[in-house]
Amino acid sequence: MANNKTLSNAKRAKKDEFYTQLVDIENELVHYKEHFRDKVVFCNCDDPYESNFFKYFAANFNHLGLKKLIATCYDPSPIAGRQLDIFSQGILSENERKAFKIEIKEVVDTNNDGAINLADVEYLIKNDRNVLSLLEGNGDYKSKECEMLLDESDIVVTNPPFSQLNDYILFLYKHHKKFLIMCNHNVVHYTEIFPLIKNNELWLGYNSNKTVRFAMPDYYEKWDEIIDGVKYGKVPSIGWITNLDIKKRHEDLILYKTYNEIDYPKYENLNAIDVERVSEIPCDYYGMMGVPDTFLDQYNPMQFEVLGADGIPRYAEELHMGRIGEDWLSRYRKNGGTGHYTANMKSLVVTRDGVPKKPYSRILIRRRRGDGNVVGANNDSPLRMEPSKRDAAPALPMAAEPDAEYGVKK
Ligand SMILES: C[S@@+](CC[C@H](N)C(=O)[O-])C[C@H]1O[C@@H](n2cnc3c(N)ncnc32)[C@H](O)[C@@H]1O
Repeated sequence: MANNKTLSNAKRAKKDEFYTQLVDIENELVHYKEHFRDKVVFCNCDDPYESNFFKYFAANFNHLGLKKLIATCYDPSPIAGRQLDIFSQGILSENERKAFKIEIKEVVDTNNDGAINLADVEYLIKNDRNVLSLLEGNGDYKSKECEMLLDESDIVVTNPPFSQLNDYILFLYKHHKKFLIMCNHNVVHYTEIFPLIKNNELWLGYNSNKTVRFAMPDYYEKWDEIIDGVKYGKVPSIGWITNLDIKKRHEDLILYKTYNEIDYPKYENLNAIDVERVSEIPCDYYGMMGVPDTFLDQYNPMQFEVLGADGIPRYAEELHMGRIGEDWLSRYRKNGGTGHYTANMKSLVVTRDGVPKKPYSRILIRRRRGDGNVVGANNDSPLRMEPSKRDAAPALPMAAEPDAEYGVKK
């Protein structure tokens, strides 16, 4: 009989079933071609028959110059092992559900139709018994056999189960893997993930914080549209995170606004100014600033330093954030302010144009000296090193000491 843990895992896995469309994968992957030459790519949450991640890499195997493509599927998935192709190969009997893996080392014109494409991959899977094999366990990405495949791989690319994002990302780090994964944007605020962003070990990909349409299994009771008999749901705040270097994070944000005390009030409980829009970050301010988290989409670590995030207790301590306080809270309530805030909470508060405001989702940042012309920004810079070597590297020079009061560079 299934115990509670098994049941809740199954329930959780059921909710994680939504499938990425090829166009969304292509729109992101187009920026990463140079990373894949001679690399082993592992899609470790991907039923090869269902996953467009697998299809993308299989179809582009030669174009990207891949060394190997591995995909594993998870057997609580409603489609795992239900494919006719597997039954017809005699690997599974009807009604048997089992996790399996596919490993492809080359894609040639196996069906002799004059072109190399997915038809060749299908032909390969059906005719080469070394390509598809059953896993011993259930295909859990943490299982020993999948962990061994992970160790063998260079880059993991997938859309993992969102309910397990935190553990999934930390697992990839434990294994020192390069990755590009689709996820919910909220992940940037996770207590264990944000430090990776702060330390430049993880950053946002090209497409971030968008509403994306996913295909869903038939049993989903809520969906937004049905196209050709397939249910689709629109999911907000979807983006990509990666630790593969991309051009975008070397491009400076153009700053044109200048600092003044009215547009950029100081927080009541932190020595930093509040910036309401990323485009309005003042070009002449070198102290600490709180900016909306959309900043991370344009974050160039040569131009700015990330210091912390509102809502993560560790940074409230490190940056000496005060409590909200009775005074601000009663003014806020009198002005009709809502939300579950208490005077004892350590979270950023500000008074803008005489009105107490609770800024939403702030990242705390500071400009680096010289807008990208950081001393040490050469090949020895920690920013150009492998994450594992960065800890031992000397810290990058900080921005000039800010003016004691407001941090405007003199
Ligand atoms: C959000 S879906 C995405 C599927 C596929 N990667 C795609 O993008 O179309 C996440 C997938 O992870 C699978 N999954 C859930 N828990 C897993 C685990 N512990 N190990 C491996 N895969 C898991 C689910 O069955 C589901 O198919």
